[in-house]
Amino acid sequence: MRTQVVSRTQVGIVGAGPAGLLLSHLLSRRGIDSVVLEARSRSYVEQRVRAGVLEHPTVELLREAGLAARLDAEGLPHGGISLRFDGGDHRIDFADLVGKGITVYGQQEVVKDLIAARVDAGEPIEFEVSDVVLDGLTTDAPSIGYTAADGTRRRIECDVVAGCDGFHGVSRRAVPDVRIAEREYPFGWLGILAKAAPTHDELVYANHDNGFALYSMRSPEVTRLYLQVRPDADPAEWSDARIWDELGTRLQADGFTLNEGPFLERPSVTGMRSMVAEPMRHGRLFLAGDAAHIVPPTGAKGMNLAIADVRLLADSLADLLLHRDETGVDTYSERALRRIWRAEHFSWWMTSMLHRFDDDHANGDAFGRALQLSQLRYTVSSRAAATGLAENYVGLPHGAV
Ligand code: APR
Ligand code: PHB
Repeated sequence: MRTQVVSRTQVGIVGAGPAGLLLSHLLSRRGIDSVVLEARSRSYVEQRVRAGVLEHPTVELLREAGLAARLDAEGLPHGGISLRFDGGDHRIDFADLVGKGITVYGQQEVVKDLIAARVDAGEPIEFEVSDVVLDGLTTDAPSIGYTAADGTRRRIECDVVAGCDGFHGVSRRAVPDVRIAEREYPFGWLGILAKAAPTHDELVYANHDNGFALYSMRSPEVTRLYLQVRPDADPAEWSDARIWDELGTRLQADGFTLNEGPFLERPSVTGMRSMVAEPMRHGRLFLAGDAAHIVPPTGAKGMNLAIADVRLLADSLADLLLHRDETGVDTYSERALRRIWRAEHFSWWMTSMLHRFDDDHANGDAFGRALQLSQLRYTVSSRAAATGLAENYVGLPHGAV
């Protein structure tokens, strides 16, 4: 048998995405120590391009936690979005409707800031670990076995394990009575990151006969764009010229032009699904973020939900570990799931309203298409309906639902 190096911490965290990193930070502010284990390298995690919209409560939390210096300097505050359909452009004015906005700041920038904060605090993150095994989850002394980057087999003994290891991780599978509710959508998104100055100040969500398109950005020099494509589409079918042409068609509106520019990474296709795993707890294992739930990217809720989960989890673990009070951990799953289902509904609703659900243009789903257009017209013409979109998009206050 190989020798094992054994160490101890209070909270063993699997996964260094936004959920695991922020949990570690929030715990350390309460004097609780943790170790974060990550399968990938630091540079991989810091470069992984994902969505880039921060809800109002997310920004507030990052500020309270002392993590917002670069976000406040470089993030782009937006007071609304546009819905584009039937040849018209319609602005939803968040600032007017709900008095709040969103901030555009890439997820990998949040991850870089979180890693820097952990490193500055001298808190360990172990990158490039493999063969993670969770043990003793129904005892009060669980442990995490893993192989470190140098090949040694190690074990961390802890009070609690936090499963923050995303959709493909091991933690969700360690919950034996887990129930999965899910939905797959018959399309994917082709994601494009271009070195081209944005020509419009806010995001544009377009419903077009050819399918959905999204206009977004990362900085004053970089535009982020998406096209609805078949879920099994090969990005090689999409030449640069075809991509720009299709973006121009789907995003077309009076006075709108697109700046074209070289792609900063190879366009890739992401499938679209909704998934919720319940309960988010098994004994001393707690799930947070993508390990427990997936939303389609329409509405950009993924990272925001992960952050809301770990805020609740950090408070609940502090009650458990500092005051021996189990109330918080006993109700964590139920309380987290309320916000999760709100975001699941909102992302499903935005997805349903904005995408083309059939491939057959001649004999398409005329009923479904007419419902979409009716819903869009209602959303942009009724203040009550627009307010519903706005308050969900900017993010309901934590604990409000
Ligand atoms: N051991 C260690 N780490 C693992 C393992 C494992 N067995 N399996 C996965 N991981 C790591 C992944 O490499 C990843 O870095 O767990 C991390 C999970 O991070 P995310 O996928 O970013 O998930 P989360 O922190 O919950 O953040 C949710 O990320 O997927 C996006 O759009 C989603 O914005 C949302 C956010
Ligand atoms: C992005 O900028 O990547 C983005 C923005 C809004 C979304 C999804 C992705 O709904």
